Amino acid sequence: MNSSNYVRIVEVGARDGLQNEKTLLPAEVKIALIDRLSATGLRTIEATSFVSPQWVPQLADAAEVFRGIRKLAGVSYPVLVPNLQGYQRARAVGAADIAVFSAASEAFNRKNINASIDASIERFVPVMEQARTDGVRVRGYVSTVLGCPYQGEVSLSDVVRVARRLHELGCYEVSLGDTIGVGTPAKARAMLHAVAQEVPIAALAVHFHDTYGQALANILACLEEGVRVIDSAVSGTGGCPYAKGATGNVASEDVAYMLHGMGMETGVDLDLLIATGAWLAAQLHKETASRVTCARTAS
Ligand code: HMG
Ligand code: MG
Repeated sequence: MNSSNYVRIVEVGARDGLQNEKTLLPAEVKIALIDRLSATGLRTIEATSFVSPQWVPQLADAAEVFRGIRKLAGVSYPVLVPNLQGYQRARAVGAADIAVFSAASEAFNRKNINASIDASIERFVPVMEQARTDGVRVRGYVSTVLGCPYQGEVSLSDVVRVARRLHELGCYEVSLGDTIGVGTPAKARAMLHAVAQEVPIAALAVHFHDTYGQALANILACLEEGVRVIDSAVSGTGGCPYAKGATGNVASEDVAYMLHGMGMETGVDLDLLIATGAWLAAQLHKETASRVTCARTAS
């Protein structure tokens, strides 16, 4: 059991949050979002993604956004990379932290990145080798760990296998994603427990979408299991364009509120985070999905 009181929130709103939003935001708004997030005390802010612009048009301005953000000392700004081409684009603008991603479901991988699980991991081998040479840190994501929109059930052994492989390849951290938000606490906990038999818990993170309203309960179960890194998106934006029906990530404001209420430390200024979430919702012309922001900004 991990008794540490500090939880690192990995803010994924500017990438996972925006990649599925219909309203295309100009690069300067994305830059303003990330600069605001930097001021909240967050230590890890995923900035954008160097995937194919045909596949994710919202993030076609990745280079401009990454170049434009103010990079604070002590804060890392990872970017998502699907292949060597994405890696080279990311490096050309000076990215020093990247994230690679695969899924535990074959069907999802084909829809999301047009490759099998094994083929997607093979694509990462040259990326990881180059990253090691360049001193670039690599995070790994495993998607669909608690269910797949195309194949339904996902076997625990596939989740464990993909997580172990990403860790063996050199990912310093592996984030376990309930991409479509179907998980419930006992299943989330059992999944994390199984992966933690093969990958040290200190190298694991959890990533919940809130489609069925289970995300905070799932996070609590995983905290009890010892995880101390949680992915979330300010204002609860987003979802995956290749996961039909999936709604946003759990809202960062709600995660921070829960953690602070439990006496845990995040280093995040909740008021600044709420202001940023309310500002982002206005930019997207939609209601915030954060219950905490709703409660605090109600007139
Ligand atoms: P493909 O079409 O099979 O690729 O896509 P390809 O290698 O045959 O290339 C096709 C064209 O794309 C070529 O251009 C390439 O140059 C170009 P053309 O010759 O036709 O002009 N291309 C690129 N351009 C810019 N940057 C690149 C790049 N790569 C190729 N990096 C590919 C394969 C992987 C590229 C594509 O499927 C893709 O980009 N997929 C990404 C989809 C995505 O971003 N999904 C969401 C992220 S995952 C997620 O959200 C889950 C997560 O949040 C965790 C969770 O919630 O569980 C992480
Ligand atoms: Mg996600």
